[in-house]
Amino acid sequence: MSFLSDALARVQPSPTVAITQVARERAAMGRDVISLSAGEPDFDTPDYVKEAAIVAIRDGQTKYTAPDGIPELKAAIVAKFRRENGLDYTPAEVSVGTGGKQVLFNALIATLNPGDEVIIPAPYWVSYPDIVRLGGGTPVIVAAGPETGFKLSAETLEAAITPATKWLIFNSPSNPTGAGYTRDELRALTDVLMRHPHVWVLSDDIYEHLCYDGFEFVTPAQVEPGLKDRTLTLNGVSKAYAMTGWRIGYAAGPERLIAAMRKLQTQSTTNPCSISQWAAAAALEGDQSFLAGRAEAFRARRDLVVARLNACAGVTCPVPEGAFYVYPSIAGCIGKTSAGGALIDSDEAFCTALLEEHDVAVVFGAAFGLSPHFRVSYAASEAVLVQACDRIETFCAGLR
Ligand SMILES: Cc1ncc(COP(=O)(O)O)c(C=O)c1O
Repeated sequence: MSFLSDALARVQPSPTVAITQVARERAAMGRDVISLSAGEPDFDTPDYVKEAAIVAIRDGQTKYTAPDGIPELKAAIVAKFRRENGLDYTPAEVSVGTGGKQVLFNALIATLNPGDEVIIPAPYWVSYPDIVRLGGGTPVIVAAGPETGFKLSAETLEAAITPATKWLIFNSPSNPTGAGYTRDELRALTDVLMRHPHVWVLSDDIYEHLCYDGFEFVTPAQVEPGLKDRTLTLNGVSKAYAMTGWRIGYAAGPERLIAAMRKLQTQSTTNPCSISQWAAAAALEGDQSFLAGRAEAFRARRDLVVARLNACAGVTCPVPEGAFYVYPSIAGCIGKTSAGGALIDSDEAFCTALLEEHDVAVVFGAAFGLSPHFRVSYAASEAVLVQACDRIETFCAGLR
C-alpha cells in the first residue's frame, strides 16, 4: 500500500515556485541573481490598506469569521462587480477564499468527477491542469499559440467541446503571455459557448487592472449575460493591490456553486484570515486612482523589456495587452550551444543555462504547455530589468 495518495501522484510541484526557490538559493550562496520568475508585483501594499488591517487588529477582528467571507467584504465585492464589470450579484453569490488559488481549487474540486473534461488554452497558468487532475478531472489542453496572439479561437474551442466538457478555463489578461481578449474576440467564444449549454466558464480575471494602451478589459458574463448562470467570475486583491501575501481571492457565480465551494472550505481553511478580509474590503472600497499610475509604470516596463528582448539574437517577443509578463519565442536559439558549452535543445535548457551562466531566472515555456518560449515577469524596477536584459542579450549573442 502506498503511503502517498494517488491524487497527489497526479500533481506536479509548481515549476514557477521551484525556479524562484533555486534563484533564492543561488542568491543565498552570494551570487548576484536577478529573478524575473515570480508572479508578484514589486510595489508595496497601499498604506490605506495596511491601516485598515491595523485598525481591524485593534478592533479585535481576530476571530473565526463566516466561512466564505465577512458581510462587509462581500458587500465591497458586490459593489466592485457592479462598478467595474456591470455585473449584478447578491452576497450569497460571492465566495471569498485564501487567495484566488483557493477559490479556483474549491470550484474545481467541488464540481469535478472522473471523466469530466476541462478545456484549458495553452500556454496556461501552471496550476490549472494540476488542480483539475487533483480533482480527478481530465485537462483538455488546446493550442492558443503566437499565430492567434496567444488567444483561443472560436474554431479551436468548438472542436474541443465534447459531451464530457464541464468547464472552460478562461484567463485574460493571461499568465504567462499577457494576452488580453478584445470584446469581439471574447464574443466569438461566448457565441460558441451559448451553443453548448452544459459547459461552465471559469473566468480568471486576476490581472483585470493591468491592461495597457487603453485596452478595454471585458469578462464573459458581461459580454454575454446569457452565460451568467453558468459562469464563475474569479478575481482577487493579490495583483492589482500588491497584496500577494495577504491571501484574499474571491469569485461570484450561481448560488448552488458558491454553496458547494463553501461546504468544501468549511472542511479546509474554515475561513480566510479575518484581518486580511478587512484589508481587502478597504482595498476595494478605497480611492482607486493609484491603480492607473501603477498600470502606467508596468506599461513602461513592458515596452522596455519587449524592445530589449527583440534586440536579442534568436528571440522574438510580441507586445502583450496586459498582466506583467512577456512570453518571447526562442525558436531562433534552439540547436545552438551556449558560451558555457550547454546545448540549447529546449526552452528548459535555455533557461537553465541562462541561470547558470548569467544568473538570470526566468521560467521555461514547457512549464506553461507551449515551447519554445520563456516567461519573463517584468514586475521589477527598470534598473533591474535593464541589467537582466543586458545579461540575456550577452547570453544570446554567445550562442553558436
Ligand atoms: C492567472 C492567475 N490566476 C490566479 C492566481 C492566484 O493568485 P492568488 O492566489 O494570489 O490570488 C495567479 C497567481 O499567480 C495567477 O497568475
